[in-house]
Amino acid sequence: MIPFLDLKRQYETIKLEIDRAVLNVLQQQSFILGDEVKHLEDDISARFESGCAIGVSSGTDALLISLMALGVGEGDEVITTPFTFFATAGVIHRLGAIPVFVDIEPETYNIDPEAVENAITERTACIIPVHIFGLMANMSPIRKIAKRHGVPILEDAAQAIGAWQRVEGNKAYAGALGVTGCFSFFPSKNLGGAGDGGMIVTRDPDLAERVRRLRVHGSYPKYYHHTVGINGRLDEIQAAVLNVKLKYLDEWVRKRREHAETYRRLYREYGLEAFWVFFPHEPEGSHHVYNQFTGRFPKRDRLIEFLRSREIGAAIYYPLPLHLQPCFSYLGYRKGDLPQAEKAASEVLSLPVFPELTEGEQETVIREIRGFYENEV
Ligand SMILES: Cc1ncc(COP(=O)(O)O)c(C=O)c1O
Repeated sequence: MIPFLDLKRQYETIKLEIDRAVLNVLQQQSFILGDEVKHLEDDISARFESGCAIGVSSGTDALLISLMALGVGEGDEVITTPFTFFATAGVIHRLGAIPVFVDIEPETYNIDPEAVENAITERTACIIPVHIFGLMANMSPIRKIAKRHGVPILEDAAQAIGAWQRVEGNKAYAGALGVTGCFSFFPSKNLGGAGDGGMIVTRDPDLAERVRRLRVHGSYPKYYHHTVGINGRLDEIQAAVLNVKLKYLDEWVRKRREHAETYRRLYREYGLEAFWVFFPHEPEGSHHVYNQFTGRFPKRDRLIEFLRSREIGAAIYYPLPLHLQPCFSYLGYRKGDLPQAEKAASEVLSLPVFPELTEGEQETVIREIRGFYENEV
């Protein structure tokens, strides 16, 4: 049996440290916005050169609070990708704003900068590129478009902590290029907590202050409210776990990248190209962190059934693009409107890539895939 993700293997390697960190919070009995959250905020802002960092309750709330801090609301248009986790668009809808979905680049699965430009109107209030699967969207042209039209960029970096890209010759981390960057610490993320958690980063000190207030119901000073926020704080216990795990993030990403290389070698050795299988692409100047290792596979639905029958974990991110979700039918999109996103949704499959995966397991995955296609033709 090869799991898609095995968090127990990771826990086994750091159990003593994690248990001690959690126990320490329990002994201190300081659960809300204490030293652990502050420590994590300082560490993240320093490591990813991203200005202020503010711990929040989830990646979803990081996006929601960011939009609130930017004043996005009723009738505003927010341009984003339909090929993402639901939260990216859910938060736009929740504020009474209108998600404007534009198509993706077929090779990277990320938002197509040209499509962003074509979708800008006088009602555009924000652009949300999502760094899908751990690969940053093509930020250089997106930044130029945003600047030209005076529209802020909010980066959904939920899947991409530690990813970077060369922008105008300089190395820039995911989250550090927008007015805010949003991370998720959902357990399956590269830096995952023991539950929900998230972080907002921003270089704008005024925006950081608005975010800090919004995460405590808009309160400032305590019990005085000039704005209405939410209960959006990161817990101390989560921060304690994340402070331990952050020390290992580089090592875990290095292993994920090694697994990606191993898959590519096995792809050649097992001749998967002949079956029109495509593995993920890392554009020049980008550092992919492989939160997911997602390729395109003909007969995808039959393949995933086959892999499951062999007890090999695989997953589909995402089977239905957001512009075709029933809850967004009021927006009036039709099948065929965003063909690249729709094609990707029908072809993609993610293979196990978690750090503790072994080379032998990877070879089994690829051998089984090869076997499936041999029997199909
Ligand atoms: C691209 C993307 N955006 C937003 C989120 C929301 O994060 P969370 O689950 O922490 O609320 C996630 C993760 O689940 C995600 O993958």
